[in-house]
Amino acid sequence: MEFRPLHQGFGAEVSGFDVMGSTGPADIAALRAAYDEYQLLVFRCDEDMPPERQVEISGWIGPVMDSFGSQIGFLSNEEGFFGGRERLPWHFDYTFTETPFKGISLQAVALPSAGTTTLFTSNIANWASLPPELQRRVEPLSTRHRDTDDPVSGKAEVMADHPIRMTHPRTGKPQLFVTEYHSTRINELAADESEELLAALFAHMYAPENVHEHRWQLHDFLLWDNWAIQHSRPVEADPADGIRSLRRVTNSDHSYEDIVERARLNTEELRRAEEVG
Ligand SMILES: [Fe+2]
Repeated sequence: MEFRPLHQGFGAEVSGFDVMGSTGPADIAALRAAYDEYQLLVFRCDEDMPPERQVEISGWIGPVMDSFGSQIGFLSNEEGFFGGRERLPWHFDYTFTETPFKGISLQAVALPSAGTTTLFTSNIANWASLPPELQRRVEPLSTRHRDTDDPVSGKAEVMADHPIRMTHPRTGKPQLFVTEYHSTRINELAADESEELLAALFAHMYAPENVHEHRWQLHDFLLWDNWAIQHSRPVEADPADGIRSLRRVTNSDHSYEDIVERARLNTEELRRAEEVG
């Protein structure tokens, strides 16, 4: 098995691994080590794998999330699917809860002929390359992550607070834990100072030299650490350009229903604290 680095500080393309073959403990250990080192693994596959195999591979990383009785979902721009079409600003999934997803795997099952991309950047690499004076300034600070009401899906607003300098729960590495999409403000600063500092952090994190662009090929299989890696969909996946469908399996220690219920309770608690404060 070989790992070809894709970007400075994160991402690797895996070769010499038969996604469909039987896999021994040594290969699983090598993949887990590479996952921790590179945070994003890309497998260029020749065929669609059975969904159970995707669940099995994701299971090597950690517990697979159950969502209303299923471990398999789709990000699709087809009618009747949710979240697979619109342009998506930079984020990592569910940081507006106390239990963001641990990891995500996607296999491309249908792609528009003109091509489609996902952008990635690394919270770990972005902390390491942050100028020391900015590191010192944000070290004691936290942000409020917020997902606003969505009248289409009926989702209510949810929020959670996280330190800006987060320690990665598995590797212990420091990481920059803020996102363009959901970090709405720095809790300890006045509004204008908060805005200015967040803008400086975003300018660093999303600078072209810190971003890897993945151009999808049919059957590509991507496995990434959702705490360490952020993603964005730079343009809307308009169904008029063709179907874009990615099969998704998620790693979490909790079921989706449990995450949503915890988020609801945490949001109520933060709102009460806001009223008192
Ligand atoms: Fe996402």
